Amino acid sequence: MRTVVTGAAGFIGSTLTDLLLSEGHEVIAVDNFDDYYSGKMRFLSRHLGNDAFRLKEVDILDIDALRQSFEDAEVVFHLAAQAGVRISVKDPLRSHHANTTGTLNVLLAARDEGVRRVVSSSSSSVYGNAVRLPAGEGDLTVPISPYAASKLAAEYYCSLFYKLYGLESVSLRYFTVYGPRQRPDMAIRIFTDRALDGKRPQIFGDGEQTRDFTFITDVVDAIRRCADCPDPKGEPLNVCSGSTVSVNQVVRSILKSVGREDLEPEYLPPQPGDVDHTWGDNSKAKRLLGWEPKVMIDEGLRRFVDWYKKEGKV
Ligand SMILES: NC(=O)c1ccc[n+]([C@@H]2O[C@H](COP(=O)([O-])OP(=O)(O)OC[C@H]3O[C@@H](n4cnc5c(N)ncnc54)[C@H](O)[C@@H]3O)[C@@H](O)[C@H]2O)c1
Repeated sequence: MRTVVTGAAGFIGSTLTDLLLSEGHEVIAVDNFDDYYSGKMRFLSRHLGNDAFRLKEVDILDIDALRQSFEDAEVVFHLAAQAGVRISVKDPLRSHHANTTGTLNVLLAARDEGVRRVVSSSSSSVYGNAVRLPAGEGDLTVPISPYAASKLAAEYYCSLFYKLYGLESVSLRYFTVYGPRQRPDMAIRIFTDRALDGKRPQIFGDGEQTRDFTFITDVVDAIRRCADCPDPKGEPLNVCSGSTVSVNQVVRSILKSVGREDLEPEYLPPQPGDVDHTWGDNSKAKRLLGWEPKVMIDEGLRRFVDWYKKEGKV
């Protein structure tokens, strides 16, 4: 299968690229290597000699370049975005351009180039402070950050392109993804980095907020399955472990893994845009994809810390 992965140099995109190539698929890797964080070529450079791999340094805001990149592609896995809630509160237009306009461009280029299916990336943040936990795909969505609003708008475009033009699509609502290669702005990575340097973990709020953390290999397994599953009809799909843990518990587990249980957390004011709790119902993904999350939080944190000690810190 010829595939395109947008955002292929990022945390999730590069891990998905590895999986697709290992299964013998072709990957056209699209990324603009934006300046949000550095060192992104690190995970793609290993594929540069592979005939099944092609790298295109393309901005998804450049629709002509996107059209060229999508020629003869069967499935587009769309991960390129300005990820992160906090940066969206600081610079909402940046998130809007990359996430909403960028997704609209991806859909237009996919429609025009005859792509069979677009697997798009949304976020649990669209639920805001969810009316019901665990949150199901049919529940009310009330974004409380520009990031969440930009992702929800992108979801609407995906479902509209299915209804108007018959372009098959799905919007995957990922719930806090973690594991090797995790973005440097994400909490688990920051806690680990500080603990290894002998610094106290800094927690926003009282640490009793809970998250449905989902391990990276489970996430890319779900994304990959979306290429072949029955037509998802432009709808959203939760990709989550289906269980939750508090930030305080995660910090305790990381401190234990690095042997620094002596470090007391420092509590800072809560951040605007952050939700209190995330917890997803993953029964639809299980049914549609025949998928099951396999790595639970203690094992996942151990694997992350092992990776970070060996090759995470650059
Ligand atoms: N990591 C998570 O916990 C999480 C949770 C929910 C949703 N998501 C979504 O999953 C996707 C991947 O997230 P990630 O954590 O791997 O982020 P990431 O920042 O590591 O990867 C995003 C990639 O997109 C690229 N990019 C950004 N703007 C671009 C543009 N205009 N044109 C081309 N490339 C561009 C970046 O250079 C980067 O390599 C994003 O859509 C994100 O919003 C992630």
